Amino acid sequence: MQLFTANSHQWHRQRLVINPAFSAAKLKLMTPLVNECIESFMNKLSEKCEEQQEFNIYLIYKRLTMDVICRCAFGINTNMQTDIDNEYMHKAEAVTNENFENNPLIRLSYLMPWLIPVLSYIVIGQAIFMQFLHKWKKSAEELPRFWFVNRLRHVIDARVSSDETKRRIDLLQLMLDAATPNQIKNDNNGDVMSKKLHYDEVIINVFSFMIAGYETTSTALTYCTYILATQPTIQEKLRAEIDKHQDKNESDYDRIHNMIYLDLFIREVLRMFPIVPKTVLRECNTTTTVCGYIIEKGSVIRPDMFSLHYDADLWGPDDPNLFIPERHLTPRHPMAYMPFGQGPRNCVGMRFALVELKLCLTRLLCQYIILPGDEMEQKFKVHEKYERADKYYQETLSLFDQYLPIGYPDRIRARQKIATIERFYCCKSAMALEDYEDCL
Ligand code: HEM
Repeated sequence: MQLFTANSHQWHRQRLVINPAFSAAKLKLMTPLVNECIESFMNKLSEKCEEQQEFNIYLIYKRLTMDVICRCAFGINTNMQTDIDNEYMHKAEAVTNENFENNPLIRLSYLMPWLIPVLSYIVIGQAIFMQFLHKWKKSAEELPRFWFVNRLRHVIDARVSSDETKRRIDLLQLMLDAATPNQIKNDNNGDVMSKKLHYDEVIINVFSFMIAGYETTSTALTYCTYILATQPTIQEKLRAEIDKHQDKNESDYDRIHNMIYLDLFIREVLRMFPIVPKTVLRECNTTTTVCGYIIEKGSVIRPDMFSLHYDADLWGPDDPNLFIPERHLTPRHPMAYMPFGQGPRNCVGMRFALVELKLCLTRLLCQYIILPGDEMEQKFKVHEKYERADKYYQETLSLFDQYLPIGYPDRIRARQKIATIERFYCCKSAMALEDYEDCL
C-alpha cells in the first residue's frame, strides 16, 4: 500500500515517515538536483528557439518534470530531456496514459460494487500473468509499472550496499533512512506508532510520486506559461521582481522564497486552473449533518473545486473570472482554496512542486520573453468534465443494455442519478441557477 491508497493507521504511519522528506530543510538540500534538470531544460529551450518557430512548450515541460522525479525520487540521472527515445520517458508516458476507466472490468465494478473483490483479483491476476509471461518469454513486453518497480529494486539494492558517506540526498534516500526489511505492525494501541517504512512501501511510494508529480507539475507550468503569454503586463511585473532579487546574495531556495509576487501569481494560476480537481475525496466515518444534509457513514464526499475557486462570495469583490494575483493578499476562507487538497491528507509533495515551479519560472523569465503562438488559443481548450462523466455513464449504460439480462433497472437508475449530480456540480460554476436545475 502507498499513501494514496492506504487508510487509517497504515496511512498515518506512512505519512509520519514521508512528511519530513518534504520539509523545507530537506527541499533546500535537493535544490541543486532540481537545478541540474532546469539547466538541461534551458539548453533544450535554447535549441528550440534557434529554430525560430512556434513550439509547444508542454512537451518540453513534461521531460523536465519527469527528469526531476527521476533524479529526486528514483535517484537516477538520465538524459531524457535530450534523448527523444529515452526508455524511462516512454515507460512513464505509458504508465500515466493507462486509463483504467477503459477497462471493462473496472466499469463493471462501478455498476456492481459487491463484485469489486472478485474483479480486483481478476485485474491483478491479469497483471501478474503478463509479468509471468514476460519472465518466461522475454519477447513479451513487461508492463511499464513492473518495469519501474524492478529498476527501483536495483537502485535500492545499490544504495543499501553503498558507502554511507557517499549517498546522495534525495527523496529516495530520505525514505530509505527510515526503512526496514522487517514486517511492520500498523496498529498503535496505546504505543507510539512505528516510524518505519517497509522496503516495498518505499518502492511503491516512490513510484506513486512519479504518477503524482510528473503531469501535475508540467501541466501547472504550462498554465503559468499560458497566462504569461496572454498577459504581458503580469509577465513584466514578475520579471521586475525576479530582476530585483538577482543581485542579492541569497541561495536559490531563499531567493524564490522571498519573491512575493511570484507566489501570488502561482496561487492565482492554480485557483483558475486547478490541476487535479477530482482527486480530493474523503470518506465519512460517522453519520453527520452538514447544512441540513445528512451524510451517511461510509459516503464518499468530493468537494467541487471549480465552484469553490470561482465563487464570487469567497473570492470577490474582483470578478473571480479575472486573473488577479493580488486577490490572494486578502485573507480568505481556509476552505476556499484547495488545488493541493486540504487538511492532514493534503498533497505531501506541495512544497516540492512549488519549489520546482518557482525555480523553473525564474530561470525562464530571466532569459526569455514569452509570446503567444498563432495556434495557442486553438490548442488551449479546457474541457468541461461533466461532458465526459455524462458520456462515460452513457457508454456504461449502453454496454449494460447490450450485455446484461433484464433486471437491473433500479441500479442503473441509481447510477444515472449519480451521473446527473456530478453533472450538476461540475456545471455549477459555468451556469446560472435556473440553467443547472435543468440538469437534475
Ligand atoms: C502542481 C503539482 C501538484 C498538484 C496540483 C497536486 C495536487 C494534489 C492533490 C489535490 C492531492 C489530494 C489531496 C487531498 O486529498 O487533500 C494530492 C495528493 C498527493 N500528492 Fe500531489 N500534487 C502536485 C504535485 C505532487 C508532487 C510533485 C508529488 C510528489 C513528489 C505529489 C505527491 C502526492 C501524494 C503522495 C499525495 C497523496 C497524499 C496522501 O494521501 O497522504 N504531488 N496532490
